[in-house]
Amino acid sequence: MVNPEVPPRYVHGYEPGEQERLIAQAEYWRDLILDGTKLADGTRLLDVGCGVGAVLGILGAEFHGVRLTGVDVETKQVAAAREHLGRRGLPADLRVADGRRLPFPDDSFDHVWMMWFLEHLTPEDAVAALREARRVLAPGGTITAIEGDYGTVRFAPANPSIEALWSAVRQAMRTFGQEDAGTRLRGWLDEAGFTDVEPGERLFSFHGAEVTRNAHWMTEGAQATITDIASLPDTPDEATLQRGLDELRALGDSPEAGLSYVVHKATAVA
Ligand SMILES: C[S@@+](CC[C@H](N)C(=O)[O-])C[C@H]1O[C@@H](n2cnc3c(N)ncnc32)[C@H](O)[C@@H]1O
Repeated sequence: MVNPEVPPRYVHGYEPGEQERLIAQAEYWRDLILDGTKLADGTRLLDVGCGVGAVLGILGAEFHGVRLTGVDVETKQVAAAREHLGRRGLPADLRVADGRRLPFPDDSFDHVWMMWFLEHLTPEDAVAALREARRVLAPGGTITAIEGDYGTVRFAPANPSIEALWSAVRQAMRTFGQEDAGTRLRGWLDEAGFTDVEPGERLFSFHGAEVTRNAHWMTEGAQATITDIASLPDTPDEATLQRGLDELRALGDSPEAGLSYVVHKATAVA
């Protein structure tokens, strides 16, 4: 049962360092955010789980005529989003709200965006949030949902410290949300009643020195939650996890280094 009164615990937390990480993370994913995205002037866009407004900032700067709205369950994120978008001169309607119960009438938007959001919900809540998205979309409105799948991440050469770290990260994602949200997106969108679902599976693959830059989003995400990860049952202690992180940061120093993972940029029609 979806309990509308109890938002699930959010693993990354809301410290200023974490908020800055979200801005850097969206910049890193800028090409993925914009690739294939078309938003006509006048589009009423809602970003659910908008965090500090990082993605709204990128979309608003690229598509000047779009009307930006964002909701996040956490007051501190919405305050940071106001500041972030205000500094960029991008007007936006930003509200504290739970994505499972949106404070908008039916048919209020033309496009809904969700990025790195559904992975923090239970599968039942993810479908509930997608149903809400569909409810607030006008007929024929569209959705973009971007999620990864932590089980698809591969590192080379094999390194036991990095493997131990990643296995603990996967356990944390399973504990606090879903580690395979990207792979499950298609089914969730179907279940929520969307049509014309495109799963948008993309393989990212890097070698040698590229690995360091492209592992950055995962090392910084893991660093931000390392104490929580270490506190889970049957995970290595914090010092062991930190060693894995240090080795992952240095992985790209080897000319043989390899890193690959799959991210889904799914689209569908309401
Ligand atoms: C990893 S952040 C991603 C933020 C943003 N989409 C981005 O890509 O920068 C996930 C956000 O989802 C928010 N969140 C978690 N559960 C939520 C819920 N039930 N309703 C609305 N927001 C929620 C968190 O507060 C957090 O800001």
